[in-house]
Amino acid sequence: MTDAFLGIDLGTSAVKALVVDADGNVRGTGSAEYPTLRPHPGWTEQDPDAWWEATSAAVQQAVGWSGGATIAGVGFSGQMHGAVFLGEHDRPLAPAVIWSDQRSVKQVDAITAKVGPEHLIGIAGSPLATGFMAATAVWMQEEQSSVWWRTKRILSPKDELRRRVTGTAATDPGDGSASLLFDARWRNWSPELLDAVETPSILLPPVKPAAAIAGEVTAEAAEALGLAVGTPVVTGTGDAPSSLLGAGIVDPATMLLSLSTGAQVIVPDEAFQPDLAGRTHAFCSGIEPGPGHPGWYQMGATLVAGMALRWLRDEILQLPAAGAYERMTGAAAKAPIGARGLLFLPYLIGERSPHMDPRARGAFLGLAPHHGQGDVVRAVMEGVTFACRDAFSALQDAGAHPERIVMAGGGSRSPFWRQMVADVFDLPVYGLSISDQSAVGAALLAFTGIRGLDPVETAQRWARYAPPTEPNSARHGQYNEIYGLFREAYQPVIDISHRLGDWYAKSAGPRLVPRPIRKRG
Ligand code: XUL
Repeated sequence: MTDAFLGIDLGTSAVKALVVDADGNVRGTGSAEYPTLRPHPGWTEQDPDAWWEATSAAVQQAVGWSGGATIAGVGFSGQMHGAVFLGEHDRPLAPAVIWSDQRSVKQVDAITAKVGPEHLIGIAGSPLATGFMAATAVWMQEEQSSVWWRTKRILSPKDELRRRVTGTAATDPGDGSASLLFDARWRNWSPELLDAVETPSILLPPVKPAAAIAGEVTAEAAEALGLAVGTPVVTGTGDAPSSLLGAGIVDPATMLLSLSTGAQVIVPDEAFQPDLAGRTHAFCSGIEPGPGHPGWYQMGATLVAGMALRWLRDEILQLPAAGAYERMTGAAAKAPIGARGLLFLPYLIGERSPHMDPRARGAFLGLAPHHGQGDVVRAVMEGVTFACRDAFSALQDAGAHPERIVMAGGGSRSPFWRQMVADVFDLPVYGLSISDQSAVGAALLAFTGIRGLDPVETAQRWARYAPPTEPNSARHGQYNEIYGLFREAYQPVIDISHRLGDWYAKSAGPRLVPRPIRKRG
C-alpha cells in the first residue's frame, strides 16, 4: 500500500482534505461546507463544532477515495487572523470570530495609537486590522467580559482544529504573525504587543515550526476522522503561506494570486521587510529561514473576491448553486471589456491592501437600462480583479517585481478569469492542476516534516503548471483605462459609504448579547 499524507485546509466557506503521495500526486479529495454567522452588521463568526463535523466528513471522503493509501502523517492550513476563545476543558466559550469580522474598528484605532503605527508594523510586519486576533481580544475584554474572564486559551482557527485532533495546543510562526501579537522578526509572541493588549502569554499556545511534529492523532479523533491512532501530525501554517508552498513558489520572481472568498497577492521574501506605509503585510512563512529558504512573505490582501460572486449568485440572482458559476462566467465572457460602462467596487466588507479601511463599502457605478446579467457578472469579476491589481501596486511600491503569476484558489479554475488576470496585470498566468494549494501545502508540510526533507526542494518538485495564459497588449490597454477610473472612484464613493454605514449601524439597533453555542457531542 502507498504511503500518503493528508492535508486539511480549514477555509472560510469549507474545509478541504487532500490525500497526497510522496510525488505530489493527489490520491483522494474531500470537502464539506459550514455557514458563516452574521448576527449583527459587520460581524462574522463560525462555530468550531461545525468545523469539526465538516472535517470529519471531508477527511473520511478523501481517505475513502484514496483507494487504501496509508496515511503516514497529517498537516493543517487554515483561514488566518481569527480567534477561538476556549474555557475550562477547552470548551469554546463563544463562536469563533473570523478574519472578515469588523466589530473591532474602535479597538484597532486604540491599539494602533497606543503602540504607534510604525512601531507596530516594525514588530508585527503589518498594520492591525479588524478581525485580527489582537483586536478581537481587546473587543472581548471591553464588550463581552463574561467570555474574556472565563478564557483559558486563545487559538487561531486551524490551531483549534489541530487541538481537537491531537489533544494539545500549538501554533506556528505563520498563523502566529497573522494574529498581530507576534514579533515577526524573532518568530515568537511579542511581550510588548501582549502587554499593549493586556493579554497574558499563558493564554497563547507554544510556537513550533510549521513542519514540526505537534502531536499524534488521539483515539477519539481517530474514530471521528477514520485515521489510525498515533498518526503523526505537524503544526501546519496559515492558508496564505501554505498556498505559496502548495503552488511551488519559493522565489520572488513568481507571485501567487490566490482567488478564493478573499484574494491575496503574495511573494516570498528571504528577509523580514515590513512596509512602514502600512499598505501590505509582511508575515512569517511556513519555511524556517535560511539561504534559499524564504522565511517571510509580502502580501497584499483584498477582502472580497469570490465572496462577491457568491453574493451575486445567492442574494441577487438567486441561482441554484449547481453549475451557477459556469453559467455566470459564461454570460460574463459574452459581455465586452468594461461591461458596457458598468464599474463595480467590491468592498462589500471593507478593504485591506491598499486602503486598509474596514468601513469601505461596495458600489455599482454607471448602471443603465442596457445592462443585463452578463454585464453585471463581468463588472463584478473586473472589479475584483482591479482590487487585486490595486493590492499588487502596493506590493510593487514595497519593492516586489514579479515576472509571472501563478493563480490558485477557486477563481483559478475559470480560464476566462485567468485570461482577465493576465490582461489586467500584463503578466503571464500559470494555472496548476489542482486549485486547492493551501491543502497541498498542508500535506507537503506533513510529508517533509515527518520524513525530514527540504520543503523548498519538495515544493518545486510537486508543483505542476499548465502552459501559461499570455497577456494581450490591446486588451491590457483597454483594461488600463477602466482601471484608472476604478482607482479614481474610490475617494468620492467612500465618504458616502462611510456615512451610509454609520446611518445603518444606528438604525440596526443595539449590539446583541453573547449567544450560547452548541455543546460538543
Ligand atoms: C489573509 C486573509 C485570508 C484568510 C482567509 O490575510 O485574510 O487569506 O486567511 O483565507
